[in-house]
Amino acid sequence: MAPTRIVHNADAIAWLRAQGKLVGASVITSLPDVSELPRLGLDGWRRWFEAAAALVMACTVDEGVAIFFQSDIQHGGFWIDKGALVSRAAERSGMSCLFHKIVCRKPPGTSSFGRASYAHMLGFARGQARGHRRARVDVLPDGGFLPGPKSMGAKACADACLFVKSETTTRTVVDPFCGWGTVLAVANALGLDAVGVDIAPRMCRRARKLQIEL
Ligand SMILES: C[S@@+](CC[C@H](N)C(=O)[O-])C[C@H]1O[C@@H](n2cnc3c(N)ncnc32)[C@H](O)[C@@H]1O
Repeated sequence: MAPTRIVHNADAIAWLRAQGKLVGASVITSLPDVSELPRLGLDGWRRWFEAAAALVMACTVDEGVAIFFQSDIQHGGFWIDKGALVSRAAERSGMSCLFHKIVCRKPPGTSSFGRASYAHMLGFARGQARGHRRARVDVLPDGGFLPGPKSMGAKACADACLFVKSETTTRTVVDPFCGWGTVLAVANALGLDAVGVDIAPRMCRRARKLQIEL
């Protein structure tokens, strides 16, 4: 049977609270940057970001994993380390880090301004460790095809989805901030069911349609 895809046009925070535990699913997501939520201001966004990451983790079942893809930014001359923000949320949520990968968004050696040329990809779980008996790539030299400017690359999504497939019993991937739907399209291409949420109707339309061949 072909894998399914459902995309909800909703506020992810309210949607996650209403769902509770995401039975049978793992989460792969990329939380919005401060530039996408300007009304919060930097301090408000930091609090929102950590609380949103903690909520995602609270909704992740014990047999699943929560994977975050986040790019650091420069704000007022200081770097915001989003990997650290997500890790702090994990500590609060009683989750442990399974992996912390670096995904190159541009070739190593490229100068960057304002936004890092790498992204963090961090995976978390509670209970037993997973995937620790195999050697794995921890620097992805190319994130792959980007459907939009703030997208997670298709190769990075495939790496995350393959981890879900090989190291968990969950067969649905949820992306509560799905944007263009890269995670959903790659999950479907790898035979996993996908559920996305986005607050913007136009992103939901894109996320319902996107097809990616691997
Ligand atoms: C970083 S982008 C996600 C990019 C996505 N991973 C991709 O590959 O295209 C963040 C997305 O979160 C959405 N968003 C922002 N606030 C939201 C909220 N409260 N609930 C749901 N979606 C939200 C934005 O519309 C945006 O599409």
